[in-house]
Amino acid sequence: FCVRSLSTPWPHFVAGLTLLAVGVYSARNATGVAGRYIEARLGKPSLVRETSRFTVGEAIKHPIKTVKRLKSKPQDALEGVVLNPTLEERVRDVAIATRNTRQNNGLYRNILMYGPPGTGKTLFAKKLAMHSGMDYAIMTGGDVAPMGRDGVTAMHKVFDWANTSRRGLLLFVDEADAFLRKRSTEKISEDLRATLNAFLYRTGEQSNRFMLVLASNQPEQFDWAINDRIDEIVNFALPGLEERERLVRLYFDRYVLEPATGGRQRMKLAQFDYGKKCSEIAKRAEGMSGREISKLGVAWQAAAYSSEDGVLTEAMIDTRVDDAVKQHRQKMDWLRTEEEAQTKTLTPPPAGGAASSTTGKMGFNLPLGETSQAQEVIAPLLVHKMKQQGDCLPQERTAESQSSPSARLDCEEANRASLEQRAEKKVEKTDSAPKDGTPV
Ligand SMILES: Nc1ncnc2c1ncn2[C@@H]1O[C@H](COP(=O)(O)OP(=O)(O)OP(=O)(O)O)[C@@H](O)[C@H]1O
Ligand SMILES: [Mg+2]
Repeated sequence: FCVRSLSTPWPHFVAGLTLLAVGVYSARNATGVAGRYIEARLGKPSLVRETSRFTVGEAIKHPIKTVKRLKSKPQDALEGVVLNPTLEERVRDVAIATRNTRQNNGLYRNILMYGPPGTGKTLFAKKLAMHSGMDYAIMTGGDVAPMGRDGVTAMHKVFDWANTSRRGLLLFVDEADAFLRKRSTEKISEDLRATLNAFLYRTGEQSNRFMLVLASNQPEQFDWAINDRIDEIVNFALPGLEERERLVRLYFDRYVLEPATGGRQRMKLAQFDYGKKCSEIAKRAEGMSGREISKLGVAWQAAAYSSEDGVLTEAMIDTRVDDAVKQHRQKMDWLRTEEEAQTKTLTPPPAGGAASSTTGKMGFNLPLGETSQAQEVIAPLLVHKMKQQGDCLPQERTAESQSSPSARLDCEEANRASLEQRAEKKVEKTDSAPKDGTPV
């Protein structure tokens, strides 16, 4: 009796439950689809670290900043970026071309910027985006590998999102060598290879929606298919004496003079010949990068703020410079030790016992103590490979170039010819047997 009286409402209950489940399921699906749509248009993909693009969250959090940004006018692409004149001319051309491309809705050109750390690659990429009126998004190569299997989906999300940009998006891949390395090497995991393939798939055609800007300290590690996608190569070298002087002046102005003359600040500056001091510091800052010099500026400011009377004296400036020079030497020593260890383990001793010099890791020219002057602009992208195969070495080239310009030209010609030859060979090889998976 008990069971019968209880069982009567069961069918209604079950039907109700089923309807509820269907309702919940379809509602979840519908919100999922809507969510994905909104995410593709507005949400920042997880691989993108920083973006100038308008996001809903950002607009709610910082409404004034957002309005200001929307109203802002395009700036000079090279404002506050100190480069040697040849490089400056070249990057200015890049900036003008990019801006015109945007205005004419043309196809963007992909750029590779390479050079030692702290030479202004990221700084310029951001300025370039602002100058051209595009949005920028920064992703870093190191974030890709830890994503494992999710890397492919995340990569597609980045490009889905990039394609919805109305202003055009400058997609800046910092530390690009971390994930764009050769697929044929065993070191690269299956997941990373799949992610790289997704990246290659999405960048196969030139786009009028996004422009790729890759920055790397070691571009010789790139997969060949990446090199093939690059239209312009720019080498950011360490600053030469003149550039160092401009940098010292720039950061002295920014971190010392402006706060000292600004009024409300606590900082005061002792009387001495600032111009002469800056020239002197530039000479001592041999081999330092733009970043190291900017840090020197911050160090002067900190010194003033930490002093009792808030006065920055010449002696205090000198002490910070001494520290910075010492620290720079120490860093270079570490780099040299590491390089020597690597050379010992990787390469057999050179025949005839001749000491072979290297265009070291991170683009530094060792041995130490020698000035790393601003070099030429165009990149010998495969320098590393050529070196192994006995072509003209950059070091030899530098030495020769100083003594005879014609010898240098010959050498560059030879390098270019050999590079082209090798590229052709590579294409032939890939046509017949694409062993490393390079798309044809
Ligand atoms: N050419 C330069 N002109 C002016 N400032 C510079 C220059 N290079 C570096 N700096 C200063 O150093 C900081 C770091 O530079 P940036 O991030 O552009 O270096 P990077 O070349 O991207 O280095 P990394 O290879 O380590 O990423 C800049 O914010 C700027 O203050
Ligand atoms: Mg950078």
